[in-house]
Amino acid sequence: MPEASKLLLKLSQKLFEETAEQSQFVAALTQPKPFHPCILWTQSKPESIPFTLEATVPWQPMFVDRLALGEKPGKNPLHDQGEFYCLDFSSVFAASPLLQLESASVILDVCASPGGKSLFAGRWFSLKEPAPQFLISNEAIGKRIGALISNLKRCRCAIAPSTQVITLNRDPSVLAELLPQTADVVLVDAPCSGQSLLAKGIKADGCFHPVSINKNANRQKRILANAAQLVAPQGHLLYMTCAYSPEENEQVGEWFLSRFPEFQPLAVPHLAAYQSHLSDRPCYRMFPQSRLGAGAFTMLFQNTTPGQRSELSLPTLGRGEGGVGSREWGVGSGEWGVGSGEWGVGSGEWGVGSGE
Ligand SMILES: C[S@@+](CC[C@H](N)C(=O)[O-])C[C@H]1O[C@@H](n2cnc3c(N)ncnc32)[C@H](O)[C@@H]1O
Repeated sequence: MPEASKLLLKLSQKLFEETAEQSQFVAALTQPKPFHPCILWTQSKPESIPFTLEATVPWQPMFVDRLALGEKPGKNPLHDQGEFYCLDFSSVFAASPLLQLESASVILDVCASPGGKSLFAGRWFSLKEPAPQFLISNEAIGKRIGALISNLKRCRCAIAPSTQVITLNRDPSVLAELLPQTADVVLVDAPCSGQSLLAKGIKADGCFHPVSINKNANRQKRILANAAQLVAPQGHLLYMTCAYSPEENEQVGEWFLSRFPEFQPLAVPHLAAYQSHLSDRPCYRMFPQSRLGAGAFTMLFQNTTPGQRSELSLPTLGRGEGGVGSREWGVGSGEWGVGSGEWGVGSGEWGVGSGE
């Protein structure tokens, strides 16, 4: 069993008062055990599900299943056919505040690759009337665009045929300039110190170091500040991470509310049992010792500014950007001008990453 570092022990003491809880948290990271695989069905489930299912939790959407340990959904032919997307159950937890929103015409995912939250949002809001007009999935890091496009293309049927799916490769500051107040729902699944990778048995060197945590917290604040500009009056902003450190979670939420007082945090009643005990605000945590998923933080904000959403005027698209049309590649609307011939997946030539 690898020994817990001093920094991990310190974090466990910051997170939990009880020594038993501290030990459970540390053990989940130093002696990782597999989590139940989880899938998001992109359309109605088949009559006969080729997996053994786990019991559901009360807030689990009907388009998500947790599978028995040992199931290998990625190897099932239905995976390549786009019938489902594999994700960590923590991602379902983090995205689940969206389940209390009734509809969204424009959804903008600021940190989208490889696409799990975009697909969750697309699937949920496509079940609503009217279906979304646009799902815009942005990924700032150029080399990660290929995976995003590949997944959105494979799982396109998760999203209503009438919804235009657009992928972009822009820094959040550029999005803020180009698309102010245009989105009903903005997702920020922020890059973070990667601490929960340890719970999956993946190395994450330096993830508890204060320098790494501060660097990530500053980047998260910068992304959130830009994302705030994108949210339409009365629209919603969902902030998520898969880190445990309060500096990247509650403290970022607190900073955001102090800088953007027009936003208010919203309670998510179905997650009440997961309320973070490190904040008086409504914000929620899943810890790896719950054995449901590797861990996540989630906080939902609403823009209380009166007014209406601004009309979308999409930017001229660059290399590796464009639309995932109605079940085929290419852009539905000629005015955004991307030829379908430019598409390709994972070719490593997807524009220049502008993020940090
Ligand atoms: C936690 S991952 C997103 C996972 C994704 N939402 C999903 O559910 O599949 C964070 C993403 O933010 C991107 N990123 C890194 N630096 C960024 C920056 N400065 N601005 C915006 N996004 C950034 C990363 O490339 C990564 O794809």
